Parts: sequence; C-alpha cells; structure tokens
Amino acid sequence: MCNAFSLKILKRCKLKQISIIPNWGVRLYNTDVSKVKVSETPKLEGDQSLIEVLPSWKADEEPELRQAVVRHMRVIPDFVSEAEEAALLAEVEPQLKRMRYEYDHWDNAIEGYRETERAQWGGAAEAAMRRVRAAFPAGARLLAAAHVLDLAAAGHIRPHVDAVRFCGDTIAGLCLLSAAVMRLAHLRRPHLALDALLQRRALYIMSGVARYEFNHAVLGGEASVWRGARLPRKRRVAIICREQPPPQD
Ligand code: OGA
Ligand code: MN
Repeated sequence: MCNAFSLKILKRCKLKQISIIPNWGVRLYNTDVSKVKVSETPKLEGDQSLIEVLPSWKADEEPELRQAVVRHMRVIPDFVSEAEEAALLAEVEPQLKRMRYEYDHWDNAIEGYRETERAQWGGAAEAAMRRVRAAFPAGARLLAAAHVLDLAAAGHIRPHVDAVRFCGDTIAGLCLLSAAVMRLAHLRRPHLALDALLQRRALYIMSGVARYEFNHAVLGGEASVWRGARLPRKRRVAIICREQPPPQD
C-alpha cells in the first residue's frame, strides 16, 4: 500500500507539517508513539566527531536527551567505496536526468529537487544496498523501494519529520556526490539542536528520539556551514531506505 504512493505521500505530509499545521509532527508523535516499536541497540557505531551540538544547547541542559539523540543519529563515513558510488549513480542517473528539478511553491519541504524510487539494483550497487539494509535492526521490515532524492546545488530541505503513518522507526540515507550539513532541532524546544556532517559516501542512520522528537533539515546556500566554516553544497544524491510503518488499526 505504502510503496506505490510513498513519495507523494511523504511529500504531502512534510508540507502540512511545515506550513499548514506546524505542530502536526508533534501530534502524530503523541498519538502514535505507543504503537511505534523503537529499536534498542544500534549495530553500527556512528562517528561522533561528525555531530556538533549547537552552542544554544547548553552543556548542562537535558544531558540525557543529548546522549539519546546522538546515539540515535549515527553518521558512518566512507560507508560505500568510490566504485560503489559510481555504480549506484550509474543506475539512477538515466532516470533522474529525464526529470526537471522542482522549485515548488515556497511552502514545500524540499526546494530544488527531483526524485524517484528504486527497488532493484545490479552488481556493485546491489552489494552496497545490501549493506545499507543490513544496517537496520534485526527483523526490521523495509519499504520495498529506496527513495532516490537528487538535490540541486541550489536546493535545500526545510525542517520536517518524516510522516509516522508512512515510515517506521529507522531511516538510513546514503549520501552521494556532495557533502551536506543536516540539522536536527527538537520539535518543542528548537534551541536544542545539532548538526551532522554528511560527507560524500557516508551513511546516516536516524531512529528513535532523533527521528520522532527532532525535525531534520538539509542546509543550503549561505546556511550550509559546518563548525563555523562554509560548506559549499554541490548537487547531492541521497538514497534513502525506510522502515515500514507499524501496522495501523
Ligand atoms: C527526506 C529527507 C534527507 C536527505 O527526503 O525526507 O529528509 O538525506 N532527506 O536527503
Ligand atoms: Mn526526511
């Protein structure tokens, strides 16, 4: 049910969360969290030097939340080789190149993007995707197709929470072609925020607290800064695998 429509639906939900009903993400979390199975032990360690808690989050403020969000937003550098990156891109480029970048209405969650889905991969690309799928908790059921999101150099993603109805606990994104900064901010106390440096060929794995209690954004233009230094964003392709949502009743 989810697969055929997942992209459009995710997009629509993000849009609502951002501009029409700003607290939609919070409400969804509050209503649905009891049904959400949150994974316990992360298998792959993230590199914590790639996470920077912003200065607005004082060291003595909510130390447990800080620990939890850092544990639930893992960044693994060099997750795929250059050859695997090339193989993945070779598979998706022909499809992407036929589409135009969308610079939608100001209230869309994503600006300057084109996207597709892919369920089948060949050769080196499949080997890489198998490792991405293996990064999910044991027993996790994934949406059949990965989401391929091509962000133009001038594009960016506004803060949003992936819709709880259409995506489960764990989200893993492979970052190809360009580094980018992803910013997570607490839904109710946005000064509790952190940046993650997503380098080219890194994998990030977002789950639990990071996925439900924080929104996430991919910074663009002048705002793309890592530890005080400009991080010029080039065209970036993300290949994102998501867990299926828990069954609804
Ligand atoms: C999304 C999203 C992040 C990325 O599509 O919902 O947050 O890494 N993408 O491109
Ligand atoms: Mn998202």
